[in-house]
Amino acid sequence: MSARKQVATGDRAILPEGAKTIPIFVMGKRYEVPETLTIMKAMEYAGFKFLRGAGCRGGICGACPTVYRGEGDYKLYFGLACQTVVEPNMFLAQIPFYPANRAQYDIETIEPLADAVHALYPEIFRCVACNNCSKACPMKVEVLDYISAIKQGDLARAAKLSFDCIQCGMCAGRCMGELPQYHIAQLVRRLYGKYMQPGAAHLKKRVAEIESGKYDALLAGLQKMSHAELEKIYKEREREPDMVGLGTWMPKDVSHL
Ligand code: FES
Repeated sequence: MSARKQVATGDRAILPEGAKTIPIFVMGKRYEVPETLTIMKAMEYAGFKFLRGAGCRGGICGACPTVYRGEGDYKLYFGLACQTVVEPNMFLAQIPFYPANRAQYDIETIEPLADAVHALYPEIFRCVACNNCSKACPMKVEVLDYISAIKQGDLARAAKLSFDCIQCGMCAGRCMGELPQYHIAQLVRRLYGKYMQPGAAHLKKRVAEIESGKYDALLAGLQKMSHAELEKIYKEREREPDMVGLGTWMPKDVSHL
């Protein structure tokens, strides 16, 4: 098959005038669908209704992993149904859930150490470094690299390497060692975020301001306003210009910052 086409704005495709249709095969059955649609939209066009296997429709939630193959192509491809555009004679199936092992733990009581992760997920040492996990990742996460980092005890590196994981589970589905890579990485990111990442000074400052009542009067004033008054101040608010350089704009009134 040709290089995968990705759409950047979810699956809100609008059919252009005279859009051509192409054949696709969903769980072995042939359907004619407009060639401009994502897999998710094409399946809905074909009559499927997503009660499970769809969430954000924007490439974030990981609910819509899909495995597919092209006619005459031995290779399996992996993508998100809400982000991948259909191609002629695509054979596809959805895998919205994978029954991978998920350890039970209380994040408040775990030590942020590799040993703790290894104890909760001892199967991590069944990894044979085949790299099928990375090949199956629709987000192009280097799964094997973060699993190796966890085995070597570098949780910070693993947290950063796995940051784009959307928990779809395709890595676990292809793993020869039967690891639940995405659950392991989620634990590591939780530990990293709670115990290892430096606290954000600006966030602490803002929370303290809120707790001190700095915004109470402002909020009370807004709550007393009518719908029309709220609409007026919303429309007249000072807005950040489009295409402004990062960090180069500040509003004239900074009293609420
Ligand atoms: S529906 Fe959320 S990633 Fe596709």
